Amino acid sequence: MIDPRALLDWYAASGVWSAEDAEPSNFYDWPDRPFRLDPPAPAHEAPAPTAPSIISGDEAGMPIDEAATLARQLAAAAQSIEELDQAIRDFDGCPLKPGARNTVVYDGVPGAPLLIIGEAPGKDEDRVGKPFVGRAGQLLDRMLAAIGTSRAPSEGQDAVCITNSIYWRPPGNRTPTKAEMTVCLPFVERFITLSAPRAIVLTGNVPTGALYPDAPGITRARGQWREWTPTGGHAIPVLPIFHPAFLLRQPAQKRLAWADLLAVKDRMSVH
Ligand code: URA
Repeated sequence: MIDPRALLDWYAASGVWSAEDAEPSNFYDWPDRPFRLDPPAPAHEAPAPTAPSIISGDEAGMPIDEAATLARQLAAAAQSIEELDQAIRDFDGCPLKPGARNTVVYDGVPGAPLLIIGEAPGKDEDRVGKPFVGRAGQLLDRMLAAIGTSRAPSEGQDAVCITNSIYWRPPGNRTPTKAEMTVCLPFVERFITLSAPRAIVLTGNVPTGALYPDAPGITRARGQWREWTPTGGHAIPVLPIFHPAFLLRQPAQKRLAWADLLAVKDRMSVH
């Protein structure tokens, strides 16, 4: 027999975001459904060759190029992190948004000397509306504390700001698609410019690949300093490190992550 709780968990992980109607309703009849999804062809007709079965990137209501252009315009117009936060919340061009409960932009101290950029919200972050609040986030907090930094600094600690490469939870925590990363990237870049941090840490493949499309995988990219130069600004040192979720699965790799954190501490001169 199927455990109903397991079934609901599976639906939630697959991106089902509403099960609250008393009566069944035909999704295809919704006048304001948030994305284009053609109904299946009737049995007697040959299926349309391009009928999409999975919602992704360019199947969203707005073509990806258009969405990325709009994101760039909105990002450029934001003159503070608060304005950028609002612009991201108001933006409807990312196909992940209709399936997410919350828009997750940042946590910690805006404009802090250290900026952490993660991948995308997971289940806990989607529920709470803040980045890195689940198990990986708790490990990240311990890692940051080990170098005297915190998103909620007490005396003697340096402040950190934490954001992500994607602002809406991908269904089932899958890796974000290139299209989703392209749409969110202008906001990520503007977040860096407006934060003007002294150093940036990228956790894992997603932020590293978003900012440096030619970067190797994280196993080779980690520990290698890079630079990011905002338009008209100064170069900021950037260090890719292993994602804390990976460290939870591979504790033996914490040794390398620790070496990377010490390099960040050195660079920030937080002794
Ligand atoms: N992993 C991330 O990269 N970001 C989050 O916000 C949570 C988990």
